[in-house]
This record gives sequence, C-alpha cells and structure tokens, in this order.
Amino acid sequence: MDLSVTLSGQTHNLTLKNPILTASGTFGYGLEFETYGDLAGLGGMVVKGLSLEAREGNPTPRIVETTAGMLNAVGLQNDGVEVFCAQKLPLLPSQETPVIANIYASSVEDFGKLAARLNEEESVAALEVNVSCPNVREGGIAFGQDPAMLAQVTSIVRSAAPDKHIMVKLSPNVTDITVMARAAEDAGADSISCINTLLGMAVDLKNRRPALANVVGGLSGPAIKPVALRCVWQVARAVKIPVVGVGGICCVEDALEFILAGAHAVQVGTASFMRPDCAFDMVRELPAACERLCITSLDELRGSLQLG
Ligand SMILES: Cc1cc2nc3c(=O)[nH]c(=O)nc-3n(C[C@H](O)[C@H](O)[C@H](O)COP(=O)(O)O)c2cc1C
Repeated sequence: MDLSVTLSGQTHNLTLKNPILTASGTFGYGLEFETYGDLAGLGGMVVKGLSLEAREGNPTPRIVETTAGMLNAVGLQNDGVEVFCAQKLPLLPSQETPVIANIYASSVEDFGKLAARLNEEESVAALEVNVSCPNVREGGIAFGQDPAMLAQVTSIVRSAAPDKHIMVKLSPNVTDITVMARAAEDAGADSISCINTLLGMAVDLKNRRPALANVVGGLSGPAIKPVALRCVWQVARAVKIPVVGVGGICCVEDALEFILAGAHAVQVGTASFMRPDCAFDMVRELPAACERLCITSLDELRGSLQLG
C-alpha cells in the first residue's frame, strides 16, 4: 500500500513517504533517537524549537507527570539556530526524510530573521511556526491567541523563507481555533499543525507548592487526544490547506483516527518519552493496521468520518 502523502501548500508542497512525523520538543534534534530506529524511515522529523540565540529554558522542576499525560514548562531550551545549522543538521538524513525546523521568537521581526536564516539551509524542508509563545513587544499575549498577530507572523515567515513549506502550529488555548486557522491560511501558510499543549497546572498538596517552578505549564499526552482530535476535525473543515494532527497520539490506530477526522499526517510527541521507539513502530505497523481495518488508501480514509 502506498503510504506517501503530499501536503499540498499554497506556495510549496511537502511530500512525505509516510504520514508519521515526530513532534517538536519531544524528539530532541532527532539524533538522540538514532539508536531506537531508522530516522530515514520516518515520514518527517520536526526538530526541537529553535530560537535566534541559545536559551537555557525555565528553572526546574519543569516536568511533572499527570493523569494520562504530563505538564511541561521547559521554556524552549535550545542551542540556538547557528549551532543547529552547523552541528546538528548536517548529521540528519535530510535526503531521505524531510527535516522540519520548528521556530520560536518573541517578536515578529525575530520570526522573520529566523526564517530568513533557515531559508539558506537546503537540508531544511519546511518551517513549523510555533505561535504559542508570547509577543514581548505587545504585552506578552501569545501570537497564536490573536488572529491579527498570527497573520503578521505567518506573513513575515512566508516572505522571509520563500523556498520553504510553511506549517503554522496552532495553540488550543483559544475560544475558536478555526478563526486562527483561517488567519494563517489567508496569510500564506502552506499547512497547519495542531495542537500545541493545553495550559495546565499541578500542585503539591502536602507542601502547598506548585509542582512546576513556573507554576503553569503545557499539558500533553493521551489526556489531550480528544481535544486534539476535535481541533483537527474543526480545522480540516475550515481551511483548504492540509492539516497535521498532533496531541496524545500513541499508536497506529490513534494516527488513523486523526486521518479519519481529516488530517493528512500526524506527529508523535509525548509518546516518545514513554516509548522512544514509538514513532518507528508506528511506521512499521501502519500497512498491517490498514489491512486489518479494511482501509484501502489513506486518501480514501481521510476525512471520511460519517456524520449521522
Ligand atoms: C517537553 C516538551 C517540549 C515541547 N517543545 C515544543 C517546542 O519547542 N515547539 C513546539 O511547537 N511544540 C513543543 N511541544 C509541543 C509538542 O510538539 C506537541 O504539540 C504537544 O506535546 C502535544 O502532542 P503530544 O500530546 O503527542 O505530546 C513540546 C512538548 C513537550 C512535552
């Protein structure tokens, strides 16, 4: 069975040999997972969020386990774009598997600079724009919570990286995610990925302290799968560009559920912390699962959810 998928964008298409990608921040720079499977067999690798300069991230504790999930406030720790381009990117099998660089900035201008820098790298196939971060110039509101700011970021990244497929990653922490999806599409996004983490909190009752030093953090893992599935379903009906589903995906059946809801591809996130070989296993198991479930092609399954 042909498992390849093309994310047909408004400016650039992105062709994947299969629909299983890894999610940003949960798969390092890819290289950390080399011993668990064949990176070249994945549909794509979304690497750890990159900023212009290196970031140390938030103080610890910054990860806590919750019921069916985890909370993190890692704070986008990373080595910065230059170290990534010089030391990590050349080691990735970018000829065989598209490398998608996830980008983060705290101003529109910095998003533009970062996109322009990565546009120079032939081994980067696409940029995934993380809009869940606060805009420091505009009082700290997350870019992804305001359609006008989201459009500004999308449009500057689109024009600063004219050679790349631009995927905009939406936050679920909004009233109506379809408004954000349309804003990204209208501003030139080639595809949408959703969702990022849900804002949450955990406390230590005995010590009367928050479990995370940052107090609040992002909830991920199986606990958020129903929210992610709902978002993908809503977004896929609201825009023409392809949607990549992410949130709580742990097995091949989860991936197929997202495709049924309208996704073209999926990303495996927190599941890689539970089982570092999870994404590799899913790639291997996909053909047999399709056969078992009488799915003749991913195109036939996509968005075929029967309502009523
Ligand atoms: C520890 C951790 C770090 C993350 N870092 C990033 C990041 O740098 N950029 C980003 O767009 N999303 C980041 N995410 C969000 C994930 O890519 C994903 O959208 C989210 O965790 C939901 O998927 P999951 O339930 O499969 O983990 C991070 C998630 C976790 C758990």
